[in-house]
Amino acid sequence: MTDILIVGSGAMALLFGARLAASDHKVTLLGTWREGIQAINQSGIRIAGDLKRDSYPAQGVTDPLKIPPVKLALLLVKSWQTERAAKQLAQILDPEGIVLSLQNGLGNLEILGEILGDRRAAQGVTTYGATLIGPGVVCPGGEGIISVQPHPGLDPLIQCLKQSGFSIQEVKNLSGLVWSKLIINVAINPLTALLNVKNGQLLDNKYSKGLMSLAACEAGNVAQALGIELGYEDPVSAVEAVAAATAENISSMLQDIRRGAPTEIDAMCGAVVRAGRSVNLNTPVNEIMLLLIQARENIMRISENENNDNNE
Ligand code: PAF
Repeated sequence: MTDILIVGSGAMALLFGARLAASDHKVTLLGTWREGIQAINQSGIRIAGDLKRDSYPAQGVTDPLKIPPVKLALLLVKSWQTERAAKQLAQILDPEGIVLSLQNGLGNLEILGEILGDRRAAQGVTTYGATLIGPGVVCPGGEGIISVQPHPGLDPLIQCLKQSGFSIQEVKNLSGLVWSKLIINVAINPLTALLNVKNGQLLDNKYSKGLMSLAACEAGNVAQALGIELGYEDPVSAVEAVAAATAENISSMLQDIRRGAPTEIDAMCGAVVRAGRSVNLNTPVNEIMLLLIQARENIMRISENENNDNNE
């Protein structure tokens, strides 16, 4: 049994927590969403539609100083919460410990490295998905894969994840994978959130399908200009394939908008716009998606400081 800290109490944190607890690891979730943390402490983590077990044991805390120092941590908060989470981790992560970020978007590893030091920060990309049903309750998406960059000190965490049934591969070209996922995210997430549709419905008409391919092409051009080697040949067909494969999914950004939480638009389209500028490329479609989602967030009067909200 290994102690594992999961930072987050949203859908992905619950998914990883339940599976690690199922293989007898001692799981603690550190989150800001009080209702979610309370539900975990009262009833453990619950998986919607799981007929095998009522719940998976886990401890929830909102104050990092309530738990002893940790050696292994998984970071599964939204990208706009990375800095706050890294500062919390700085208080409790063992000098020889490590945190693996499996978050969406660009820039998370850089923030972790700055606050915790590169030796204690690692990044991966995952295609596992999950939907938050309510406090402490999650509905897993289909099976996926976790890709991590080889990192000294990551082995114990990789072993725990493998024991818990996660598929993991080590990849040399992590920035290629991060960008490959980023392109999928900028093409699918804002459009599903703005149009209030499931991923697959973007393929149903030529207008949303066209916008999706314009966003993907722009981001693909930026990646190419930066010399990033993507995991696929053609961004447009890759995005269409993911939209078809995840047709019934409510994207993470639409889930955020529906529950009135801030989105990860800045680490997605915002990051593409900034990276484009760095290589003198305009990215008008990504810029408009960025502004539209920011306007939507503003209309909903979302405050990034309202840490007690259900926003992980
Ligand atoms: O963010 C998401 O929802 C997912 O990364 C993806 C691939 C768009 C599927 O829903």
